Amino acid sequence: MQRITMIVAMKQEAASIIKHLNLSDIDMHDPVLTCQAFQGNYKGLDISLVVNGTDREYNVESVGTQPATITTLEAIRQFKPDLLINAGTCGAFQDKGSAIGDVYMGEKIRYFDRRIPLGEDYFAYGDGSYVSKLAGEYARQLGLKTAVVCTGNSLDMSPTDEAILREEPVVAKEMEAAAIAAVAKLYKTPLLAMKSVTDLMDEKDTTAEQFLANLTRASELLQQNVFRLLDLLSNQTKAA
Ligand code: ADE
Repeated sequence: MQRITMIVAMKQEAASIIKHLNLSDIDMHDPVLTCQAFQGNYKGLDISLVVNGTDREYNVESVGTQPATITTLEAIRQFKPDLLINAGTCGAFQDKGSAIGDVYMGEKIRYFDRRIPLGEDYFAYGDGSYVSKLAGEYARQLGLKTAVVCTGNSLDMSPTDEAILREEPVVAKEMEAAAIAAVAKLYKTPLLAMKSVTDLMDEKDTTAEQFLANLTRASELLQQNVFRLLDLLSNQTKAA
């Protein structure tokens, strides 16, 4: 049976997936960590889903690369997945053809705000480029567009960030995937990133306003496409 672990940053993004997959709460091994796990079976697939959980000091969802790293490490140790799926929301550029609710598969994942100009090697380390070998084929089979998933630790966008983001043809800007990819690479676990657009960064309304207004709808569209991906994976497992 194929073991799949989904890493989702916020409980609002995960709620619809947990509900429709009928996943139940299970304990993570380390109670000090805030991440929360859910588990179940879907069409022969052994599914776990882990969210970063609520920050105990600030009482907000733990977004960003630091909780994503811890969650992924802990999830890989506990669930030993054959495949990781990072499902979440993102910002995108309207003038590069994106619209609210578009769902992308990340063919490449990189940092956009880890700039280390200390020569080629540090520069490449900072950039952290990860190529998802599976993304192109699954995107094709699902009829989804691909994007470069660009990770940083800010929801808003500075002019420096924008210049770097605009180097890519199609952008899915978010806050976790490159950190998840680094841990996936260490443990030689394949990773697929699927991102649904909540906000257009070249729109007049602020990212925060758009994000809050579109989070529920974008999360539903994300859930629908996660299901399409799981159906495909289930059929492939049965055919194998
Ligand atoms: N998640 C959703 N929209 C985002 C944005 N514009 N930047 C970072 N993370 C996001």
